[in-house]
Formats: sequence, C-alpha cells, structure tokens
Amino acid sequence: MVSYTDELKEEIRSANDIVDVVSQYVTLKRSGRNFFGLCPFHKEKSPSFSVSPDRQYFHCFGCNKGGDVFTFVSEIERISFKETIELLAERAGIKLPIAENSEFNKNQYLKDRMYKINSVSAMFYHERLYKPIAKIAQNYVKTRKLDNNTLKAFKIGYSGEFNELYKHLIAAGFKDNEILATGLVNKTDKGDFIDRFRKRLMFPIMDASGRVIAFGGRKLENNEKLAKYINSNENLVYSKKKHLFALNLAKQSNSKKIILVEGYMDAISLYQRGITNVVASLGTALTEEQGRLLRKYSEQVILSYDSDSAGQEAILRALNILDKQGCDARVLQMEGAKDPDEFVIKYGSGRFNLLVDNAISLVEFKIKMLKQNYNLENANDKIKFLKELSRVLSGVENKIEREIYVDKISVLYNISKEAIYAEINKNLYKSGSDKLLNNAIPKKSKENLVSDAVIRREKMILYLLINHFEDAFEPIVTNIMPDDFKSEINKKIFQIILESTAESSDKVLQLISNIEDEEIQSNVSEILVTDYGIESVKKCIEDVIKIYNKDKITNRKLEIIKKMEDQSITDTERKALEEELNNIMINWLKKE
Ligand code: GTP
Ligand code: MN
Repeated sequence: MVSYTDELKEEIRSANDIVDVVSQYVTLKRSGRNFFGLCPFHKEKSPSFSVSPDRQYFHCFGCNKGGDVFTFVSEIERISFKETIELLAERAGIKLPIAENSEFNKNQYLKDRMYKINSVSAMFYHERLYKPIAKIAQNYVKTRKLDNNTLKAFKIGYSGEFNELYKHLIAAGFKDNEILATGLVNKTDKGDFIDRFRKRLMFPIMDASGRVIAFGGRKLENNEKLAKYINSNENLVYSKKKHLFALNLAKQSNSKKIILVEGYMDAISLYQRGITNVVASLGTALTEEQGRLLRKYSEQVILSYDSDSAGQEAILRALNILDKQGCDARVLQMEGAKDPDEFVIKYGSGRFNLLVDNAISLVEFKIKMLKQNYNLENANDKIKFLKELSRVLSGVENKIEREIYVDKISVLYNISKEAIYAEINKNLYKSGSDKLLNNAIPKKSKENLVSDAVIRREKMILYLLINHFEDAFEPIVTNIMPDDFKSEINKKIFQIILESTAESSDKVLQLISNIEDEEIQSNVSEILVTDYGIESVKKCIEDVIKIYNKDKITNRKLEIIKKMEDQSITDTERKALEEELNNIMINWLKKE
C-alpha cells in the first residue's frame, strides 16, 4: 500500500479549487461569502448544499455530508482516497512520484497510448469513407440523408477488411499490447491479428472533452445473421455506463436542455437539422453516472426514446434516476414516427421542437401510464383512476406545481378539480399524521437534550479556533475547558485542536481535514461554511469567554447555596462558603 506525503496532498488540495471541482457536478450560485446548490448526495428541491471558497470546504445542511475537495470527489465518484488523490493530481497536472506509484503511471501511459490509437483509428476509418472502395458506405449514408458536414462533425467512417486497421496501427508505431488493449483488434487462437470492425459504418464515441474512447459499427449488408451494431468492449478508457454519445457536441450547444435519445442515428439526424443539444445512451438503460453527466451539462433533460419500444419501464426508470439527482426530466411524446430520426426527416425540426416544448414531467408521465389500465367510460374505473392519480399528486411537495398538474389533468381526463383535491387532501391528512408520529421519535436523543443555542455557541468557538487560531487559541483555552462542552462531538474536535502542535489556522485546518471520521468531517464542514456574522473577532472571543465565565459563576453559586442547605456541615465550612458567595456577588455587581 503506497501512501503520499502530506506535502504532496497539500499541493494537490490547493491546486484543485473546491468551487471549480464541485461545479463540475453541481450548479452553484453565489450568495454572500458562500456558494449554494442542490445537494448531489440526497434528493432535494431547494438548495441546502453549501461550498465555502475561503475555507475550501463543503457542507450539506440537509444530509449533513461535508468535507474538503478530497471527500467530495471520493464520495461523488465512489472511489477510494488514494484514487481520489490520483484523479485530482491528474486534473491539476501534478506528476505523482514514480516510486510512490509506478502501477498508476504505467496505467497512465497505456491510457495515453489507447487514446492515440482510438484517434488514429477514427481518422483511418473516416478517410476511408471517401475512397472508391467505400461505395457501399457512401450509398448508405446517402439513403440515410447524412450530409458532408455531419460526416465531418461526427467523424463517421468506414472500417476496413480483415486486418487493415491493425497494419495501419503497426505502421504508425503502436505496440501489439497497446492495440489489443483498445479492443479494436483481436488476436485469434492461431496468433493472427484481426480487426474487430470490418466493413461497417463507424461511429466514433467520444468523451465530454472530445477524445475518442470507443466505436459503434453499423452493419451495411442486409444480412440477418449480422448484429446490427457491434460496439467496442469496455476497456481502460471506455465504460458504456459512464459516457454519452455526442455529449462533446451537445455541450457546445448553449442550451439549458439536453435531449436524450436511444440511437446513434437519432442523435446524428437531429444534430444535422440544427437540434444540436442531443446525446444518445450507449445501448444501455440510463445509469446513475450518465444521469450525473446530464445534470452537469444541463438544467433540463428531455427523454426522447423510440415510440414503439416496450420502453415505458425504461423511461420510468430513467426519469426516476434523473429525478433522484434533482434533475428536471421530461418525456417527449411522439406520434407518427417510430423514432426521432424518422420524425425529424418526415416533419422537420420545427415540429420536433414543439414536441420538446410540450414534453411532460415525471408526474404527468406516471399518471399517463396509470390511465392505460382504466376505461374512463366506466364509472368504477374512473373512481379507481382518480384515487391512483391523486396518490401520485399528493407526492408533489410544491403547492403551485401541484395546482398546475390538477388543472391540466382535470382537462385532459375530464375529471373535476374538486374531486381531485378532495382525494389529495385525504392522502395528505393521512401522511401528515404519519409524519407527526415519525418526528416524535428523536434520532440522536443525547445531542437533542442540549439546546440548539448551546450547540451553536460551541460551534462558533470551534470556528474561531480553526479560522482565527492566532487570536483565539490563548484566550479560549485558558478560559474554556473540554468539559465545558455539552456536545460530545464538539468536545472531541476541541480536544484535537487543544492537543495539536499546530500554530496557525492553516495548519489546524490541514490537521482536521486529514481526520478520517465521517461524523467529525460532517461537523467541521458545517462549522466552516456557516456564517456566524462575526464583525470583530476580538470582541467575539471576549463575549463568548464572558458567557462561559458567567455560566461557571452561576453554577458555582447554585452549588454553594445547595451545600449551605446541608445541615451537617461545620460552622467553619459554612463561613467559607458564605464568604465565597459574597465575593462572587461583589465581583458580579462590579462588572454589571
Ligand atoms: P438505425 O437502426 O440505423 O436507425 O440505428 P439507431 O442508432 O437508431 O439504432 P436503434 O434505435 O435500433 O438502437 C439504439 C441503440 O442501441 C443503437 O444506437 C446502439 O447503441 C444499440 N444497438 C442497437 N442494435 C444493437 C445490436 O445489435 N448490438 C448492440 N451491441 N447494440 C445495439
Ligand atoms: Mn433508428
């Protein structure tokens, strides 16, 4: 197990600004000192996810996740701490020492070579499309009405026969193992090298930054025995779950929407007709990783799957994935064509854009699916349908949004608004009482006993210690003891700072960032992104110390009074207690 030095970690941390990194996954808006957005770690409608550029920390006030840039990347990419370091080093262009991780560097080299091979191959296929030998492919693209600009934009190509690509790549200086790693060429049992894609129309698949990472190849012969498409296998640079076809082009479209289609040809066909904000999934059901990509590059996703396909379940699954990630997802409803390609050729982009504008939401889609089970001419069916649809509508938290749906649905299915509201209210009443019951059970009973104000004050002390270490350390540790802390977790953090040898805010922050304890990270990140509205640090320190001293005196006073009530104490003891109480009162009067 290799580990990296703290200096290196620091260098990588400071080279990756947390706001930049988080912005790749979350849309952030600035408000005051901090940035806010929808938390990527739990479902929410209003932003409680906060990022502090000053402290380089994030915290979600909804789910309590928090930490520094390493924590964020490791959680969102679901990778280990070590992999996170390597990823962020790569992002910042920091070379990791070879001795520390030769395996990583070896992989890095191979990946580089694979990207080059993919790119050289794409050019090879593309140039070949224009040669006389590619007649069959040229005719095919004509029947599919693809123009030359489109062929260029997507680098569409025509693959060779037997081992033409292999020979080309060897001549270009690539090694067998590098070529095999891309899967573009296979080695037979006899030891011959043979191209994977032969006599197919080639669609290079690129990542978001435009690097070729894989290919899809469509058959051109009318041969039932051949698979319509073959695609690159998964490899070091390609995972079909993590990429979207044409994303590199769609992200340049300047649209807040992205249209998601099923087929390469659908994406290409729409693009050619000016609808450039379109991507295609890669022959799989939409994955969470793809959902995150979509959210990163758009505010609204329009699902435009084939109309015929038994794809309703697939649509619902995709909608749910996107909704869970806080993405506004809609379903485009298409009639008169089996897929977007056919539709846009038949009716033009104007009509397609209308469909985009009229795409329906998850809620409307669910209700539409329900409707299929009922015949609304039948009174019984209609009542059952009303009950079911109201249950879906009860799940809509936003009242205005709910009203809009009720209006639409009432017209669409000819059901009175009053009837729908009556059902919704029944549901809300029921779930409301459930909620009350659930809330009555305290989750963290011990912490809950301590008042919010005290917890907040303790957190402010930690904030002062971390952010204004130089000013705060001396006065605070001479006046406030670990046992003064009522919250166990705050006490723990206080003790860590107390026992550290750190001498500056930066060092304290570093020390704390490196503690691998979720509860501590969550608490610290909250402390760091909270704005305590401190105007003068000095005054704030004085005030908080005063409060603790006052508390201590009040407690001592109560203790003395209680002891004096005890009949068994001696006269001398009583006298001493009286004197102490007297002194306390005098001092107190002096100060007030
Ligand atoms: P056309 O049929 O030429 O219009 O292509 P299309 O891109 O519209 O494909 P289609 O709608 O039939 O299928 C959607 C996507 O599923 C394709 O773009 C491929 O990614 C994938 N796919 C389709 N057929 C196959 C196949 O036979 N094998 C594999 N591996 N993937 C396929
Ligand atoms: Mn098609």
